[in-house]
Amino acid sequence: MSFDLVLFGGTGDLAWRKLIPALFQAHRHGKLPPGGRMLAVARDERSDAQYHAYIRERFGDVDPSKRPSDEAFARFAEHVHYRRMDLSHPDDYAGLREWIDARGADTVVMYLATSPHLFPVICARLGAAGLARPNVRVVLEKPLGHDLASAQEINRVVGSVFSERQALRIDHYLGKPAVQNLMALRFGNALFEPLWRRESIANIQITLAESIGVGTRGDYYDRSGALRDMVQNHALQLLTMIAMEPPSSSDADAIRDEKLKVLKSLKPFGAESVARDVVRGQYRAGTVDGKAVSGYLDEVKVPADSRCETFVALRTEVQNWRWAGVPFYLRTGKRLPSREAHIVVNFRDVPHPIFAGTTRANKLVIKLQPEDGLELHLLAAKGGGINEVLSPVFLDLDFDKAFPSERIGAYERLLLDAIAGRLNLFVRSDEQEQAWRWVAPVLESWAADPSPPRPYAAGSWGPPAASALVARDGFAWAEEQW
Ligand code: BG6
Repeated sequence: MSFDLVLFGGTGDLAWRKLIPALFQAHRHGKLPPGGRMLAVARDERSDAQYHAYIRERFGDVDPSKRPSDEAFARFAEHVHYRRMDLSHPDDYAGLREWIDARGADTVVMYLATSPHLFPVICARLGAAGLARPNVRVVLEKPLGHDLASAQEINRVVGSVFSERQALRIDHYLGKPAVQNLMALRFGNALFEPLWRRESIANIQITLAESIGVGTRGDYYDRSGALRDMVQNHALQLLTMIAMEPPSSSDADAIRDEKLKVLKSLKPFGAESVARDVVRGQYRAGTVDGKAVSGYLDEVKVPADSRCETFVALRTEVQNWRWAGVPFYLRTGKRLPSREAHIVVNFRDVPHPIFAGTTRANKLVIKLQPEDGLELHLLAAKGGGINEVLSPVFLDLDFDKAFPSERIGAYERLLLDAIAGRLNLFVRSDEQEQAWRWVAPVLESWAADPSPPRPYAAGSWGPPAASALVARDGFAWAEEQW
């Protein structure tokens, strides 16, 4: 299957940091279909050779095991081309069409790695140039809107040119191998399904922690904040995967229909529950990894009086028969103690303890990063005597060790899926709009509330109110239990 991948924003941050390395790895792993061409598109004039030199630099600071040799890079670069385009200019799209038609690839993927305010104009111009044909797919990168109205507007414009099945919305968390393993765990194995419900599960915690600050992205981040940047998309997508009903097939829409049902079942927020169930924080100076780091307000391109949240913890419920009354806690933040993402399924305690000492409920930890694995926490007897106290032990499955040569990164996976037209891991417009609808009351309450976010020291797990949120129900965050 021949393909053309057109990368709008070819000299932008996303292409540089994620897409080019992912394409290189896909090429190196032999996973890119043969007969592929990649065309980077940007504003300035460059030759193919100049663009190759530019992306070659990217590999200077990557892990040596992922760094290409000169020969490997040259083989990759043969497929990479560059084209200058003014994205508002119809003639430039006519030129693009000529380039594409000259070869007539089976599939054309337009990857919009540009600022989202350009999505409408790019889609409209592609449509006008006759480039919205059935063999063309368009990939849209976040942020997909700033709120429900702007997301709907983007979807309206994109939808006036491309059909839903041609428009692929990226949430790169869905490309992470751990997320596919979550599907495998739930729907490829029968073991957990009988337990996957309110009768057995006490609460579920989703943590997406980062130790980095906002770096040089202060201007973007300050307009976004943790709720828009991480909760509306990544955390909610993980929640849907945990809470969804088994789909009737692995067809993309069967899966996405079930995910949408979860989003529609989330307990809606009102001003009162926002104040009670959502904690927003902002980091102050502190220490991360033994290094002193500055507070958010001292970051570059961040206004000194910013009220932007760099941390969110919230409590919600999925209002259906399976999950009624089970708290789902979501938490994300910058400048937390470490980069770790995991989902903890806390099971209920034994109904009647017969062993001496404290009991400890079982839990299943689905680890997304830094490692990708599963831990099942149990209690066991060491065999040390009649009245011995049980000890915690855990079964630990490391997928990187189990499948050492097969793993591919999130962007590599999603790019290959976009080329192949596999839609399972892309977000449908109704899912994305529903997620915006659910966070809207939180955004509105915060906008109307003059109080600043709660401060937390960089290197801590967020403001104390985040612990209190969980403690109120008689639970604790994972690191407070371990
Ligand atoms: C992005 C956010 O979507 O995800 C960033 O915009 C964040 O702020 C990043 O750092 C985290 O992704 P990952 O894959 O490193 O956990």
